[in-house]
Amino acid sequence: MKIARIVLISFVAVCLLVVVAFAAGDAAKGKTLFNDPKFAGGSKACSACHPNGKGLEKAGEKMEFRIMGGTQKSLEEAVNACIVNANKGKAIDAKSAQMQDMVAYIKSLKGAAGKKPASGY
Ligand code: HEC
Repeated sequence: MKIARIVLISFVAVCLLVVVAFAAGDAAKGKTLFNDPKFAGGSKACSACHPNGKGLEKAGEKMEFRIMGGTQKSLEEAVNACIVNANKGKAIDAKSAQMQDMVAYIKSLKGAAGKKPASGY
């Protein structure tokens, strides 16, 4: 019976890991969206104004944003403010996978200032 218990515990652990990995969003996918002019139906890529995420290094830790005359209370709202006002796209669901990937990418920029980007360009 011991083996069955070990197998069960391992299985639960793997499931939890998968759930956490998905819930946390995928920074690599977020970066792809960030560079995509068609993201959220827009006409401009986020990277057109924030090349390589420049200027967003602190955004992952902020509680309040002021973008283009508005106040945003979360990173998701800030992303949507830029989608609507800057990219001329449509706001996306704050809980959607795309938003979580985008947020994961922006959070990954933390401390990137002054360092060479990992992608090598
Ligand atoms: C037309 C230019 C433009 C485009 C395109 C753009 N932004 Fe912005 N963004 C700005 C400006 C201007 C600000 C406010 C000033 C600032 O904080 O740099 C800003 C602020 C932000 C902030 C808050 C930064 C902070 O620390 O307060 C985030 C997050 C952000 N943008 C994400 C995005 C994302 C994600 C996209 C793509 C969906 C995007 N932006 C597209 C111009 C743009």
